[in-house]
Amino acid sequence: MNNDLANQIRSKVDIVDIIGERIPLVARGKNLFGVCPFHDDSNPSMCVSREKQIYTCFSCHATGNVFTFLMNYEHIDFKTALKELGDKVGINTSGIQIAKKTTKYDKLYEAYNIAVKYFQNNLSSNVGKQAKEYLKNRSIDEKVIKEFEIGLALESRDDLTTILKNKNYDLVTLNKIGLSSDDHDIYIDRIMFPLYDVSGQVVGFSGRIYKDIDLNKYLNTKETEIFKKGEMLYHYHIAKEECRVKKSVIVMEGFMDVIRASTIGIRNTVALMGTALTKEQIALLKRLSPNIILCLDGDDPGVHATLSIGEELLEQGIEPKVISLPNPEDPDSYILKNGEDKFKALIENSLHFSDYKIAKLKEKVNFKSDEETAEYINSVLKETSKITDQIRIEVILKRLAKEFDIGYNTLEMRLKDLSQAKKIQQTPNIIIPHKIRSKDKYIKAMEQVIYFMFYNDFVITQAEREHLVFATEEMRILCSEIIYYYNKYGKVNIADFYTYIQDKESILKLFNEIIAGEYLEKTTKEDLLLYFKVIREYGKNQEIKRLTNLMKKEINPLEQAKIVEKIRKLRIGE
Ligand code: UTP
Ligand code: MN
Repeated sequence: MNNDLANQIRSKVDIVDIIGERIPLVARGKNLFGVCPFHDDSNPSMCVSREKQIYTCFSCHATGNVFTFLMNYEHIDFKTALKELGDKVGINTSGIQIAKKTTKYDKLYEAYNIAVKYFQNNLSSNVGKQAKEYLKNRSIDEKVIKEFEIGLALESRDDLTTILKNKNYDLVTLNKIGLSSDDHDIYIDRIMFPLYDVSGQVVGFSGRIYKDIDLNKYLNTKETEIFKKGEMLYHYHIAKEECRVKKSVIVMEGFMDVIRASTIGIRNTVALMGTALTKEQIALLKRLSPNIILCLDGDDPGVHATLSIGEELLEQGIEPKVISLPNPEDPDSYILKNGEDKFKALIENSLHFSDYKIAKLKEKVNFKSDEETAEYINSVLKETSKITDQIRIEVILKRLAKEFDIGYNTLEMRLKDLSQAKKIQQTPNIIIPHKIRSKDKYIKAMEQVIYFMFYNDFVITQAEREHLVFATEEMRILCSEIIYYYNKYGKVNIADFYTYIQDKESILKLFNEIIAGEYLEKTTKEDLLLYFKVIREYGKNQEIKRLTNLMKKEINPLEQAKIVEKIRKLRIGE
């Protein structure tokens, strides 16, 4: 195991910095709080402890140390997290071999990898001339073709199926994963764009027509076990790093837009591959950056989608920004026509969603009508009531007052009414504290003693000496793991212990529960002995139960009497 190295690296980083680089944290008391990225939330229910170097979510109970945070947040394995942090603090991690994780999908991934290679080969060979020409006309050069692994499916109807069959794939599998239909290929004569999952594995394709034929422009892989369109965002695996540097994520409709932006060095981008946004995709977006910039197409469906997606994000407590393109441009065509600098200026000048929405509202109003004007002003106030930034609110109100010659106070009062009404409407967001199944005093005492072990070596040695009987298998194992760890490393703290038990799933759950529970950290010897007494009492009760059962089954009266005597002795505490 890499435990020594892991502990060394962990002691050099501060979990507050690592989490703080990814989600905004606000200090409250000696802890920090932020919106938990591991469940759908807009309340700051995640607590990060500088002292303990762990995080705990009061709402979804996610908890762990800096490594588990990175692993879950970035969808990486332990060794990769170790390397990432090691590099950061300058500790040599070259000895760590990252073995590729094997999953039950490996064979399916492999089929896709073969398909990518096959399509790439077609495009670069003679049969790919016309497709290459098409790409060239769209200003997609060799470098881009290579980077995005663009390929070509040929006119022949079963080449890929045959290749995969020869590699021992059966037709049932090939049909199931969307590469074949019966015994022929699904993609015929299309330019092939691989679609990647969040870790960068190809799990599907989008094939584009490139000749003048009357077929769907794009043909996408059907939903499969490994390809769930609503749970992915195109380019996520690349954007992951880039969004951290740029401190924002730009959302586009098509992957061609993302590819184009990449050619001018803008890579903090993802594509929705359409205009719908699912809950899972929102969660992914939030992980990339809290600063979301919508840059959808400038046509009517694009504007419509911007309004509805913006509203959805706003409801989740995130006000996105909006880059509004002239109708009917998309980022791809805009960049081609206007160049890098103009597009970058658009990013710089992106609007807050509320301002964008107000501007859109205005386009439709007939200001000659008093009624429509009043309706417009009310709508603007309604939008303004969703804004939390006081300065922005004042700017909007001042502008409205001036534009329509209405008293500032009138507007402010109306806004207050609206905000009040909203507050009452909203169901209060109460953070439910960690709900512990009503536990009896024995379980509570046992968990408390286990918790003490992380703060007091004496508890460990005492527990070892006493051979305490715990109520469950998990508790017994957890306790002996703590003792083992202590004997090996000479000390034990929560953050490092997390690294040690991360693979031991059977006890991890219990450990998380104890960490998130409300237990005391400090104890006196006298109090500790009381806890031990309760636990011993549990052991005694168990033993009495066992003996009673034994006695009932015993037919020999002499043996029975012996057992009764044993029970009696236990009862009076001999
Ligand atoms: P667009 O029609 O905006 O694609 O659809 P685009 O990026 O401008 O493509 P080009 O420039 O014409 O080549 C946006 C996204 O919607 C999905 C695709 O994922 C595309 O990236 N789409 C579009 C389909 O799945 N099928 C279609 O027929 C069209
Ligand atoms: Mn386009």
